[in-house]
Amino acid sequence: MHFLVLHGPNLNLLGKREPVVYGTLTLEEINHSIENLASELGCSVSFRQSNAEGELIDAIQAASGVYDGIVINPAAYTHTSVAIRDALASAGMPFVEVHLSNIHRREEFRHKSLTAALAVGQICGFGRESYLLGLRALFSIAKK
Ligand code: DQA
Repeated sequence: MHFLVLHGPNLNLLGKREPVVYGTLTLEEINHSIENLASELGCSVSFRQSNAEGELIDAIQAASGVYDGIVINPAAYTHTSVAIRDALASAGMPFVEVHLSNIHRREEFRHKSLTAALAVGQICGFGRESYLLGLRALFSIAKK
């Protein structure tokens, strides 16, 4: 099984970006942990990060028929992007939405996710572990 891990805007700055909120791990370190978990589970993962909404949409469209599911952190687009929501709705594969921070105990504008209602589930607040839990969940769903 093959999964796409999609990171949205500003996540390329992890490690330097608001460390009190997002921790000190870099995106590379997080991806490395995801890769280790994937080999432990016996699946493979590909990674993509973009700051551009259209590129994220292109990646979701291109995932159709190629991957068995998507772990996505849409970052700020979670709260604003109807277009990413629509792309996920058309992708025809399960996805898990993840966030490093607990968006529900932050500013009110972060409480709403346009994508979560389409997801298998949303995991937030566990830092790197949100991604690892997301992959585990997606793997067990996709296996069925
Ligand atoms: C985030 C939460 C979003 O509200 C924020 O815009 C991000 C990161 C998270 O992983 O906690 O960029 O998705």
